[in-house]
Amino acid sequence: MDVAPTPLPDDLAQLEAAITAEIETAADEAALETVRVAALGKKGTVAERMKTLGKMSPDERRTMGPALNGLKARITDEIAARRETLVAEALTRQLASESVDVTLDPQAADIVAGRIHPISQVMDELVAIFADLGFSIAEGPDIETDDLNFTKLNFPEGHPARDMHDTFFLPERADGTRRLLRTHTSPVQIRTMLQQKPPIRIIAPGRTYRCDSDQTHTPMFHQVEGLVIDETAHIGHLKWVLTEFCKAFFEVEDAAMRFRPSYFPFTEPSYEVDIRCKRSADGIELGTGDDWLEILGSGMVHPNVLRNCGIDPDKYQGFAWGMGIDRIAMLKYGMPDLRAFFEADVRWLKHYGFQPLDRPSLGGGLSR
Ligand code: DAH
Repeated sequence: MDVAPTPLPDDLAQLEAAITAEIETAADEAALETVRVAALGKKGTVAERMKTLGKMSPDERRTMGPALNGLKARITDEIAARRETLVAEALTRQLASESVDVTLDPQAADIVAGRIHPISQVMDELVAIFADLGFSIAEGPDIETDDLNFTKLNFPEGHPARDMHDTFFLPERADGTRRLLRTHTSPVQIRTMLQQKPPIRIIAPGRTYRCDSDQTHTPMFHQVEGLVIDETAHIGHLKWVLTEFCKAFFEVEDAAMRFRPSYFPFTEPSYEVDIRCKRSADGIELGTGDDWLEILGSGMVHPNVLRNCGIDPDKYQGFAWGMGIDRIAMLKYGMPDLRAFFEADVRWLKHYGFQPLDRPSLGGGLSR
């Protein structure tokens, strides 16, 4: 036989209605907790009623006991349900306020006011060209050891070529070694050969430092190193790679180049490479004329350098080059003074900088 639920005495029904109303209007979890404590807490309205059970006659208790327990259970459930709703609403509000509108129209937004620095642009162009030729990108730190910047590159201790680098040295350390700001990107050759087995084909663009400053020199400048090591790489490949690079980079049909014998401790034979150009009052035109402009140093990697990196010079050979990025940027984009590159003058950047959304690619065009 079903037992009908004990009807609540009037005052209990009123109490339940009052608490239910408070639960429904509680605006957040903290307010809901206050309602819960006021109703179900040790001194809460429901708990106080529970305490009166002890003083009741057994008959009274038989009706009021289940009535009060039912009330307590319903209120507990209502509070739990309300809490769930409040938590969900709070989360929805938080998501709405923290969301990012990724559909922002870049053409209409402030982003178009920014510019890509010509050095960054030229580095991206270099990467696009050499990636297409099958090179990967290597990197090394700006602060280098004397060993990697000089010794392993076949600069003997005390060799005069070291002095030609106008090196910035860091203070000597307790163990007598001193670090330096790398004077060229060539230590990245060494780092790569110490870590990888041939065949190796990398370029390493980055910052370099020498104590020098005039219209075409700044104490911090940029180079890109190139290195190819395998069993058969020869000077013909070196010339081809550099010629293809110049044609692509300067966007000319024919880049006549001249390889002049030179000296670097880490290459044998060594060359300085010039590109044909015409100088006039309007600036420099590349690929024509009968003037020459030096743009890089290069050569066949010296057997001592291979040996210093644990590569057998009887089995492997290769070529390398180091090119001034600032130099070729000035040439390509007609910027007369290198110092302006690093003055962070917004007017200069607005004039010579590149649109952030136009990324250089061989397919889409290197520069526009
Ligand atoms: N490191 C040289 C410099 O800064 C440039 C250079 C010359 C790099 C010949 C090379 C190279 O890799 O083979 O003057």
